[in-house]
Amino acid sequence: MYAIKLNGFGDPEVMEWDEMDDLPAPGPGQVAIDVVAAGVNRADVMQRMGFYPPPPGVSEVPGLEVSGVIAEVGAGVQDWAPGDEVCALLAGGGYAERVNVAATQVLPVPKGVSITSAAALPETAATVWSNVMMVAGLRAGDTFLVHGGAGGIGTFAIQLTKALGARVIATAGSPEKLALCRELGADVAIHYREQDFVEVVAEVTDGHGADVILDNMGASYLTRNLDTLAIEGRLIVLGFQGGSKAEVDLRTLFHKRGAVFSASLRARPVGEKTTICAAVAEHVWPLVADGTVRAIVGRTLPLAEAAEAHRLMESGESTGKIVLVA
Ligand SMILES: NC(=O)c1ccc[n+]([C@@H]2O[C@H](COP(=O)([O-])OP(=O)(O)OC[C@H]3O[C@@H](n4cnc5c(N)ncnc54)[C@H](OP(=O)(O)O)[C@@H]3O)[C@@H](O)[C@H]2O)c1
Repeated sequence: MYAIKLNGFGDPEVMEWDEMDDLPAPGPGQVAIDVVAAGVNRADVMQRMGFYPPPPGVSEVPGLEVSGVIAEVGAGVQDWAPGDEVCALLAGGGYAERVNVAATQVLPVPKGVSITSAAALPETAATVWSNVMMVAGLRAGDTFLVHGGAGGIGTFAIQLTKALGARVIATAGSPEKLALCRELGADVAIHYREQDFVEVVAEVTDGHGADVILDNMGASYLTRNLDTLAIEGRLIVLGFQGGSKAEVDLRTLFHKRGAVFSASLRARPVGEKTTICAAVAEHVWPLVADGTVRAIVGRTLPLAEAAEAHRLMESGESTGKIVLVA
């Protein structure tokens, strides 16, 4: 089969669409998916640069989510059959013509969504649901702040939390991206290059702050995020685009009775991903099927042009998700 091979680590050019060994037949509890499309994630860029190796035993081929058609099912799989149109959450291996994955990490292509767009959903939906709902316990009426509202995670998080009854505030880096955040349901959109989000959130919430913050920046935003938290607020650090080492005054958390969480979805065991995928199927898929939450695909490219997709993601010019088509 053909797949994206990493010839070392570094610039996007290290990725090459090349012939690789065929995969073994799916093992017990697994399915093989003929890939139609693969979603691109920041984690793939980090892996390509050598900063985010796959968990032990996982393919070196990048790609954390795909859509496609079930080609074969392993022993004991009852929920899926060859020919089913599906999408799946992976630990790796998605930039390829075929992938094997635990059947419990597979979801149907939601009604009304094209099979190509469905590749943009599993990693994003699982990340947002598991962190914002399962960990931070966002409630209707809460104020929710998401940084990078026009990105892959951000576009999904705005729509989902708005649908669940939160007051949504998003940050973004250009007028066009701020407009997209508002169109997707953000009540307030903050230009992070020109405005101080700490001041704006304090102003628009009459000093209450954000009950839940979904952060992609890490170190560079830590102190300001803690300043922005409401009493009993929950900060979730998903990424380290602004570094991973920071010093904070813990008294801010102490006085606010606040909490900071950070977790990688990729490294979680199959059992935990199974629970998350089941929750996504139950709570998120109906909202996608009725059009309340849409997959925002900013750009589609051939899988063989993964390098160009990575260049685009790193340029900061893309909005929503980038999807690669096999
Ligand atoms: N922990 C996990 O399991 C997990 C899972 C998935 C994703 N993530 C992390 O989540 C983050 C988003 O991933 P993604 O796939 O959605 O990437 P993406 O589509 O490339 O989005 C990145 C976002 O970062 C924003 N950004 C850059 N500089 C910023 C700043 N100074 N302030 C606020 N926002 C800024 C960009 O905003 P503009 O375009 O408006 O400049 C863009 O929206 C990444 O850090 C990724 O590693 C973590």
